[in-house]
Amino acid sequence: MEIVICPDIGAVGQAAADSFERVIQRKPAAVLGLATGSSPVPLYDELESRSRNGQVSFRDVRAFSLDEYIGLPVGHPETYKEVVNREFTTRMDIDPARVLGPNGNAPDLKVEAADFERAIINAGGIDVQVLGIGSNGHIGFNEPGSSLGSRTRVKTLLPTTRRDNARFFNDPDDVPHHVITQGIGTIMEARRIVLMATGEQKAEAIARLVEGPISAMCPGSILQLHPNARVILDEAAASQLALADYYRYTYENKPVWQRL
Ligand code: GLP
Repeated sequence: MEIVICPDIGAVGQAAADSFERVIQRKPAAVLGLATGSSPVPLYDELESRSRNGQVSFRDVRAFSLDEYIGLPVGHPETYKEVVNREFTTRMDIDPARVLGPNGNAPDLKVEAADFERAIINAGGIDVQVLGIGSNGHIGFNEPGSSLGSRTRVKTLLPTTRRDNARFFNDPDDVPHHVITQGIGTIMEARRIVLMATGEQKAEAIARLVEGPISAMCPGSILQLHPNARVILDEAAASQLALADYYRYTYENKPVWQRL
């Protein structure tokens, strides 16, 4: 696991965009894994400007999102389909038909979950997956207690997660209780993972993810087992890391050949 501690949010976005750009440069038809929430926004901002100045192109890329609410009306601005469309698809030079997420209104959600897993496999698997982290350590919508080997399926949100996400809705009661999310096993199959976290409210979850025991009580801690995971943080999100100075030193003195 590579820990990158950045001076500010803009630098977090740039470091994450560097990872994405490198993947797309090596493989123009790369398969990207997208996340929603505030954390990846600086990445999408940076990718938009790099795509506008011709530094990177999404023309041949395909993308899959992590998760979706169940039961929000089609076209609701807070469906993750709409969020991904707004934050990513409409800002890059990518054909919207090449961006897919699980359908939270599918008549049979088990079939939908299996079809979604198959679509990722048929695309060749995810080359680089961006993740945020919930304040309770969840990744995607895999709440604490999720099987560490889980596949795409329906999950029930914890009240704390519904509360965290209520800021996006007019009425906190409108936050759905159920979601469909890539499983932890699904996420772990991505070839590279870039997790972004900013702000002090993420510091405890980050300390558990990076330095705690691997446990279903902190689903993000499974990333300790991933062979190619970068955790990109601002100072506030890194503030509870016991080895923060060591990570800083390691990153600043890393020979180019050793970079992920
Ligand atoms: C939601 C999403 C996650 C995201 C998390 C944190 O639960 N399903 O993918 O990482 O929120 O969101 P934020 O980055 O807004 O703090």
